[in-house]
Amino acid sequence: AETLRVALAGLGTVGGGVVRLLDANRDLITRRAGRPIEIVAISARDRAKDRGVDLSRFAWVDDTSTLATRDDADVVVELIGGSDGPALTLARNTLAAGKGFVTANKAMLAHHGLELAQAAEAARVPLKFEAAVAGGIPVIKGLREGAAANEIARVYGILNGTCNFILSKMEAEGRDFAEVLAEAQALGYAEADPSFDIDGVDAAHKLSILASIAFGTQPAFEAVAADGIRRVIAADIAEAAALGYRVRLVGVAEAGANGLFQRVHPHLVPLDHPLASVTGSLNAVVAEGNFVGRLLFQGRGAGDGPTASAVVADLIDIARGEYGPPYAMPAASLVAMAAADPGER
Ligand code: NDP
Ligand code: HSE
Repeated sequence: AETLRVALAGLGTVGGGVVRLLDANRDLITRRAGRPIEIVAISARDRAKDRGVDLSRFAWVDDTSTLATRDDADVVVELIGGSDGPALTLARNTLAAGKGFVTANKAMLAHHGLELAQAAEAARVPLKFEAAVAGGIPVIKGLREGAAANEIARVYGILNGTCNFILSKMEAEGRDFAEVLAEAQALGYAEADPSFDIDGVDAAHKLSILASIAFGTQPAFEAVAADGIRRVIAADIAEAAALGYRVRLVGVAEAGANGLFQRVHPHLVPLDHPLASVTGSLNAVVAEGNFVGRLLFQGRGAGDGPTASAVVADLIDIARGEYGPPYAMPAASLVAMAAADPGER
């Protein structure tokens, strides 16, 4: 069968992981996808950088934006990052050129998700973003497809691996905040600007995407109130533990009578709650559906392997021809968000 030909933009933590995963599981992926999935062209900032993987077999492209219109590629995978700039240009141009687009870029989707979904639907091409929320956990697929028949009352969870890693290490090892952040960065968990992680912005990006899928609303980052973990100190964590709680950064989206409540902030989670046992770079998402009941998704929320796993799953769906509108319903049916006053929750 015809090969699905991929142009890859970004060869950092996640991009490198995608190259390694496609190599390691090549035969299995071909069988599952029904046809081979091959990278044909790659681009990043620095051609000379040693990325620990053989890239000489792929065409190197200096001008990343030209990946959108290459005749030898069917789909572009964007793993650069940033809500605007080269990632957004690439997304717009790829969809306008009638090619599929896969991204892990939650910042871009939180700000421009509706526009990109409209463009993908107009061109009848896939726009897929499983890796953008909770790394390797198939939570987009779980909500968009698995829970598609349900009315969702609430979706909440631990959506940032860096913060969870920091809070876990601060509790278990009494370590200093800055030292643990540096470790999370070295492990490839943190955003290029780690203040996005620790100030709750990254979790808010992800929550806005989840809420769109769960509630059929237009993705709207500005409707999420976000607070992070910068002010959490070791004494808070110790005090919480003495009272039977763990401190976790939790995002909550909840349908109310007057709109949608969306908030990210540090929570005191009782030790017997499933979120309390989510440690290190793990993430977890809970969704409450009116027929399925409570769903719990848990797994590794950051890092090269888990995130690449989600990116390649999207490519397999595209290779199989299994995709519909990017959100759980056509973009034209997504309702504009009314942000609920937290007092009315
Ligand atoms: P990295 O910083 O490790 O990699 C970014 C890549 O983009 C690098 O290869 C870099 O090139 C390239 N790049 C940066 N700017 C440009 C530009 N102007 N033109 C062309 N290429 C450029 O980031 P990650 O791999 O960690 O993240 C990539 C995306 O995945 C982001 O959207 C992030 O939010 C998302 N994500 C990350 C996860 C993680 O655990 N790391 C998990 C889930 C999503 P060079 O290498 O030459 O500098
Ligand atoms: N910086 C993000 C995190 C990467 O720590 O969760 C995964 O989206």
